[in-house]
Amino acid sequence: MRAMVYRGPYRVRVEEKPPPRIEHPNDAIVRVELAAICGSDLHLYHGLMPDTRVGTTFGHEFIGVVEQVGPSVERVQVGDRVMVPFNVYCGSCYYCARGLYANCHNVNPNATAVGGIYGYSHTCGGYDGGQAELVRVPFADVGPAPIPDWMDAEDAVLLTDAVATGYFGAQLGDIVEGDVVVVFGAGPVGLAAAQSAWLMGAGRVIVVDHLEYRLAKARELAHAETYNFAEHRDVVVLLKRVTDHLGADVAIDAVGAEADGSLLQHVTAAKLKLQGGSPVALNWAIDSVRKGGTVSVVGAYGPIFSAVKFGDAVNKGLTLRMNQCHVKRQWPRLFEHVRNGYLRPRDIVTHRFPLEDIAEAYHVFSAKLDGCIKPLVVPGPA
Ligand SMILES: NC(=O)c1ccc[n+]([C@@H]2O[C@H](COP(=O)([O-])OP(=O)(O)OC[C@H]3O[C@@H](n4cnc5c(N)ncnc54)[C@H](O)[C@@H]3O)[C@@H](O)[C@H]2O)c1
Ligand SMILES: [Zn+2]
Ligand SMILES: [Zn+2]
Repeated sequence: MRAMVYRGPYRVRVEEKPPPRIEHPNDAIVRVELAAICGSDLHLYHGLMPDTRVGTTFGHEFIGVVEQVGPSVERVQVGDRVMVPFNVYCGSCYYCARGLYANCHNVNPNATAVGGIYGYSHTCGGYDGGQAELVRVPFADVGPAPIPDWMDAEDAVLLTDAVATGYFGAQLGDIVEGDVVVVFGAGPVGLAAAQSAWLMGAGRVIVVDHLEYRLAKARELAHAETYNFAEHRDVVVLLKRVTDHLGADVAIDAVGAEADGSLLQHVTAAKLKLQGGSPVALNWAIDSVRKGGTVSVVGAYGPIFSAVKFGDAVNKGLTLRMNQCHVKRQWPRLFEHVRNGYLRPRDIVTHRFPLEDIAEAYHVFSAKLDGCIKPLVVPGPA
């Protein structure tokens, strides 16, 4: 089969690979109809995720048709058109029983820190992902769900991660009616978080980024008030000024460890590798919420210490909430919002690349060329 393959930092290509096989009685093999590239894939592409092995296929956002099932699979059948959450999870461990699918204890030898994610390095379990013609889906009775007849394919693929994660980011903010919510990052996750904040009762939604075309999208799709941090000497002072000098009630970090905005953090993190990433957006979130406010972190961070303003968070009495998204838990409510037209995930999509052009797709998305916000990947005909 044809599959995206990682060759090293900034080097990906499409190769011929042996097709995946059923390895366990509860596996399924899915023929991918549509996949996406996530901002998280850029961390892999940039070589920042430990144990990302040459030969790995990325891709944790995908939908497709079940082509084969193992002997114990009962809930999906060959021919079913399914959407697959990015989490690989068992459905029955201590964590899964509590809905913490992202923290499943049975799918990853490194499970004390992180669960399983398709196509996300051996740190996250070593599963090959869906930027390919075929993908192995473990625990096929647990994760995949049939795509409802009325649902658009592009909406479905975005619900397997980006939009579910944005919604989760807003949820972790514990928004109450009238809250001022500031979202850092106007990528797919931040845009979805800003839209979701309104659905949860926010009274004001502010989005911060430095890419003007993405801020324009935040105004258009999420009706947000936007600020370009590159145009202001100190974005935290600005945010205080526009929030009665108290600060926002809720801040959502939808940026993660590759944040821009501080040369010092960039040099110590990206260049000298003294930190596990740049905590600029996280520190801005901590600084720009009011005392007693909530910081929700869905941006991705590596395992190691970074110069986070933890003392300030303590002294301000903040609530910090964070996790990978438990995607399937969000679906019942998100399906309603999509069906009723409150959310149209496909509006975030800007590019559609054939799988064969995967190198170009990663380059355009990573370098933020051509107004790229969310690229989809379309495998060729079988
Ligand atoms: N927790 C989860 O389950 C989960 C799921 C999906 C993605 N993620 C993570 O969420 C983050 C966002 O994902 P995405 O797909 O939207 O990525 P993206 O790379 O498309 O968007 C990130 C945005 O942040 C902006 N940015 C950079 N520095 C900033 C700063 N200091 N302040 C404000 N904005 C800044 C960038 O210009 C960019 O527009 C990534 O770290 C990704 O790994 C987490
Ligand atoms: Zn993702
Ligand atoms: Zn589990």
